[in-house]
Amino acid sequence: MQPISNMLMMILVIGILTYGAIRVIQGSLTMGALISFLMYLFQLMGPVIMVSQFFNELAETSGSTERIREMLNEPIEESADDQKVDVAGKELQLQNVSFSYEKDKQILHNINVVAKPNTVVAFAGPSGGGKSTIFSLIERFYKPTSGKITIGNENIDNIDLTNWRHQIGLVGQNSAVMPGTIRENLVCGLDREVSDDELWR
Ligand SMILES: Nc1ncnc2c1ncn2[C@@H]1O[C@H](COP(=O)(O)OP(=O)(O)OP(=O)(O)O)[C@@H](O)[C@H]1O
Ligand SMILES: [Mg+2]
Repeated sequence: MQPISNMLMMILVIGILTYGAIRVIQGSLTMGALISFLMYLFQLMGPVIMVSQFFNELAETSGSTERIREMLNEPIEESADDQKVDVAGKELQLQNVSFSYEKDKQILHNINVVAKPNTVVAFAGPSGGGKSTIFSLIERFYKPTSGKITIGNENIDNIDLTNWRHQIGLVGQNSAVMPGTIRENLVCGLDREVSDDELWR
């Protein structure tokens, strides 16, 4: 839209300038009248350009809105079992875990990890190596294509999803802050009241 409206504007200016110049030479238009005519034209241009920008923004927004609607219509996650487990003091294990987002493009190949309680485990590797993917599997955003993840002796797939996720703290690479208050950002996704004391802690 913008290049087209800019081009039309330029053609208009050149047209008026040429026609006006001819009339000025013929003596049927004064130079002052031509200049003021052009000035009025420039004042008109601003709003017309804004209208064309509006259509650009409208197209962008409707694309994003469509995406948000898709997300809102996603089915609610549910776990087969509603077993509650206290993770304290239990060992987290990844056993022969393989995973691919798309068919034929395997990201994780037979990963085995043991994380003992009260220890720190770090994954290091090149960008795109699959570090974040491992955490997505632990959080159960995705299911391993093969292998299993266990806490103690329990496969994490059998644990109630809410109970499981309540016991995980995840700080992402890109931490988004949403419009609203800091309180709203901190309690986002929680389905219970949070006191100010708890919030500060
Ligand atoms: N949702 C997704 N759908 C398809 N492929 C994905 C998706 N998320 C990640 N990938 C691909 O999986 C591979 C591993 O990505 P991942 O984000 O786990 O890497 P990473 O080790 O965390 O990298 P970085 O150090 O950049 O954070 C990459 O090739 C990436 O393109
Ligand atoms: Mg990552």
